[in-house]
Amino acid sequence: MLVPSIAEDFRQRFGAEPLLVRAPGRINLIGEHTDYNDGLVLPAAIDREMVFAVALNEVGRIRLRSFDLNESFEVSPEAVRRTEQADWANYLLGVVAQLQRRGVAVPGFDCVFGGNIPIGAGLSSSAAVECGLIYALDQLLGTGIDRLELALMAQKAEHEFALVQCGLMDQFASLFGRAGQVVELDCRSHAYRYFPFDAENCRVVLCNTGVKHSLASSEYNVRRQECEQGVALLRHHYPGIGSLRDVTPEQVNVHRDELGPLLHRRCLYVTEENARVTAAGQALQAGDLAEVGRLMYASHAGLRDQYEVSCRELDVLVEASRGVPGVYGARMMGGGFGGCTINLVAAEHAAAFVAHATAAYREQLNRELETYQARIADGVGVVAAQ
Ligand code: GLA
Repeated sequence: MLVPSIAEDFRQRFGAEPLLVRAPGRINLIGEHTDYNDGLVLPAAIDREMVFAVALNEVGRIRLRSFDLNESFEVSPEAVRRTEQADWANYLLGVVAQLQRRGVAVPGFDCVFGGNIPIGAGLSSSAAVECGLIYALDQLLGTGIDRLELALMAQKAEHEFALVQCGLMDQFASLFGRAGQVVELDCRSHAYRYFPFDAENCRVVLCNTGVKHSLASSEYNVRRQECEQGVALLRHHYPGIGSLRDVTPEQVNVHRDELGPLLHRRCLYVTEENARVTAAGQALQAGDLAEVGRLMYASHAGLRDQYEVSCRELDVLVEASRGVPGVYGARMMGGGFGGCTINLVAAEHAAAFVAHATAAYREQLNRELETYQARIADGVGVVAAQ
């Protein structure tokens, strides 16, 4: 229903036939807070998406409309800058600014977008918005910019217009997702490879805490700085290192005293998490979901105790998943301080697991739990009008 509604809204408002693009949100099996440390991540695009209707116009204006918020924003291409008037518009304007910076002459265009990615749930609705528009404009203008470059530009848009110093994972997953597969990205070399995901037997259940603590974006940027401080100290001993990607957990432990307890915890987490991503890829290939699950629980423990980006709601949900029949593993997902947990659950046990988690959340925190079963889907692409 999403695509026809957005297309119809566009036609009625602008009286033209738009290009239609879908841009998915993402999950991440494992590899959290590793992307901006040049590390490894293992995300996938999902069947929650933003849909864009976009066409160039003759009026020399950029006319944007959020279907879900029923709000509009208009600006001329020459005057694109960050705005205080409409938060949502910044994700779109940021992308236009990146194209302009590359020397692409962006003419007036019309855009209606809307979707079903829950906002603030850690499913990267913002990356989907950035990637959907940059892809649509790329198609309409025939810029010939490749997908990786589009992902990097979308990431830049997030830095400069949403003011979050994010890594590349979300934008990459939205643009490079493949149905039925997860993708391992090396955030340093940008090399990537796909691993099969056995959707027949295993479900990805997302449990949405329904909270997003206000710390999320400020602490995110603080974590980045802490990692950089750790690297600066370690570089005295290992002059060749460029990032935590070049450091082993053993090396971090050797310099524990010099790092101090806080930086030691942060650096140890990142170096151990990179190793877990590699191990999870191997386990997936071997069809060993029990091992993937074990690594997910270990990842959560690290995010909670070492990296300190979890919160009570997330911890309650992860603990509630333990020992439930059919559950392979669970952990918090995304930046932290709220959003979703990701749970790998044997298909035949998924419904019972959802009932169990819902009851536990109500009992322990007196909150209602929203859950989604995510299907792993293709990345950004053009869709038919239907
Ligand atoms: C957010 C950022 C990503 C990544 C995750 C944590 O989703 O946008 O780049 O850093 O947090 O893994």
